[in-house]
Amino acid sequence: MTELHLTLDGAPMSARPGQTVGAALSDAGITSWRTTRMGGRPRGLFCGIGVCFDCLITADGVPNQRACLIPARAGMALETGHAGAGLAGDSWAEMEGGSAPAAGSGDS
Ligand code: FES
Repeated sequence: MTELHLTLDGAPMSARPGQTVGAALSDAGITSWRTTRMGGRPRGLFCGIGVCFDCLITADGVPNQRACLIPARAGMALETGHAGAGLAGDSWAEMEGGSAPAAGSGDS
């Protein structure tokens, strides 16, 4: 099977065709790729099905993509960091402040 070549913060990494970005990161031994804005806590895959938003990542310059849902593509540029910037309204800030906890994790 042909390996896909992509980058994470400029460093080369690979993925298998059909893998999600989250699966490729996990395969590479990377368990967190962002931190929460309020507490700086590490986040990566949690639910794995697009529900919790813990896995947000910037992909090809587009922030807040769910790594567990987006397919890895050749040449894709992934960036780690904080999530939530650019989301509409204050809903993300509310979630991080604890008034609307994310499913299961309590601090997205
Ligand atoms: S791990 Fe991606 S949304 Fe939960």
